Amino acid sequence: MTTTMNHISTPAYQKTSDLNNWRHFADMGAAATAPPKVIVKGEGCYLIDSDGNRYLDGLSNLFCVNLGYSYGEELGEAALAQYKELGYHSNWGSTHPRAVELASVVAELAPGDLNHVYFTPSGGESVEAAWKIARKYYKLRGENRWKAISRQTAYHGTTLGALSLIGIPEYRADFEPLVPTGGKIRNTRRVGRPAAETEEQFTAFLLDELDFRIQAEGPDTVAMILMEPVQNHGGMLVPPAGYSKGVREIADKYGILLVADETITAFGRVGAWFGSERYEMEPDIITCAKGLSSAHAVIGAVIVGDKVYEPFTASGVSLLHGNTFGGHPVMCAVALKNIEIMKRLDLPATVLANEGPFGARLEALTELPAVLEVRGAGHFFAIELMQTTQSGRSLTDAEKLHLYGDALLALPLEERGVMLRISIDAGDPVVCVSPPLVAGDAEFTHLTEALRDVLTAVSTVYADL
Ligand SMILES: Cc1ncc(COP(=O)(O)O)c(C=O)c1O
Repeated sequence: MTTTMNHISTPAYQKTSDLNNWRHFADMGAAATAPPKVIVKGEGCYLIDSDGNRYLDGLSNLFCVNLGYSYGEELGEAALAQYKELGYHSNWGSTHPRAVELASVVAELAPGDLNHVYFTPSGGESVEAAWKIARKYYKLRGENRWKAISRQTAYHGTTLGALSLIGIPEYRADFEPLVPTGGKIRNTRRVGRPAAETEEQFTAFLLDELDFRIQAEGPDTVAMILMEPVQNHGGMLVPPAGYSKGVREIADKYGILLVADETITAFGRVGAWFGSERYEMEPDIITCAKGLSSAHAVIGAVIVGDKVYEPFTASGVSLLHGNTFGGHPVMCAVALKNIEIMKRLDLPATVLANEGPFGARLEALTELPAVLEVRGAGHFFAIELMQTTQSGRSLTDAEKLHLYGDALLALPLEERGVMLRISIDAGDPVVCVSPPLVAGDAEFTHLTEALRDVLTAVSTVYADL
C-alpha cells in the first residue's frame, strides 16, 4: 500500500477536530467517545485513513467524486496553470476565459435548448438561484408566481430557500418558520402500493396528486416544480414509466417551470451526461454541482433554457443575484479538466454499460431476509431494508437501530474495507451504493461481497425477531 501519512498522528487530528473543526451534520458531542475517522489520502476508488486503513468509497464520498481520486495531477496542473494566469476574477459585470469556455462546454452537453449557464458555488445555491430565476422570470412576464412544489423525502440543500423545499421534516424542524412553498407531493417509492396496481396506474395516481396539488395552491401562484430525475433521498427512486413525461405535460398545462435538480445525477451518475435526458424530463432549468468538477472544485451551475432566458436579455434587466465565488476561474479550470477526462474515459456510456451487471449483483441480495428491495440506475443504487418482521409486525425504532445501526452494518462493512451510507434517521432504511464512475469489476466484487457477508449476518438477527 502506498500511503503518505501526514506528520500529525491520528489522536492529534481527532483532538483538533473536536476542539476547532465543527463538522457538518455531525454529532459533535459524540466525538469524545467516537472520534471521527481522519482520511488522509485517496487512490482510485479507495480512501485511506490516518491509521493506514483502506476503504472502498462506495458512495463517491457525497455522491460527488465521479472521477475517483487518481486524477489529482491533471486537475492540479489545470488549477496551477490558472493560478499563474489569473487566480481570481468575478463573473459579474465582466468575465474571464474559463467561465466562457466552461459555460460553452456545459451547454453543449446539456439537453435540448438549455444553453445558458449561471455558475454557483454549490448544489444548494444552484437550487436557491433556480427558484429566484423562476420568480423573476414570471415577474418579467407580468405574473406574480412564487411557489415551488417539491417531493417528500427529497434533499435539495440547506440554505433557507432550498431547505424549505426539502421533503425531510427532521431536517427542517429546527429552522422553522421557513420560506412558504407550494407543498410537497409524493415521491415515486412504490413500496406499499396495492399489489394489483400496474405501473401505468401508479404513474397516473402520482400525476393526479401533482395536478390536484397545483389546483389547490392556485396554478397562477406556482412558479416551479422541482424534482430529481432519480431521487436520492428515500433510496434511488427511479421514476415509473411515463412519470417524467407526465410531469412535463402538467407543468405545460399550467405554465409552470419544471426544474430538474441534477446536483447528483448530472455528469454521468445515472449513465448519461444528464439524468433528465435519460428519463425524458425535458426540464426548463437544470441545477447541478458535484459531478461538474467531480468535487475537486467548489462549483455548481444553473442551466437555463432559451425560453426562460429570453426575458432576461431585454435591455435594462438584471438578475440581482450572485456571489463572489460563482464561476471562480480556478474552479472553472478544474471543472473543464474534469469534463475533458470524463469524455476521454467515456464515463457516462461506461456507467450505462455497468448498470446491468452491477445492478444484477446487487439485486441478488434481495434473497436475504432483511433486504426488501434493490433499485437504482447507473452507479446509483439503494438497498431498502425491511421495516416489518417476517410475521408482518412493524419493527420498533429500537429494533431498526439495532439491526441497521453502526454495530451490525457500518462497522462490519468498514472491517471489510467498504464505506457506504446507511440512512435510517430520515425516511426508510436504505443502504446507498454509489461508487465512483471509474469503478469496475474489482470494485463491484469487493462491494457486493462485503454487502452479502454483512447483510447475511443482519438477516440472521432479523429472522429471530
Ligand atoms: C439533489 C441535491 N440537491 C442539492 C444538494 C445540495 O448540494 P450542496 O451540498 O452542494 O449544497 C444535494 C446535496 O447532496 C443534493 O443531493
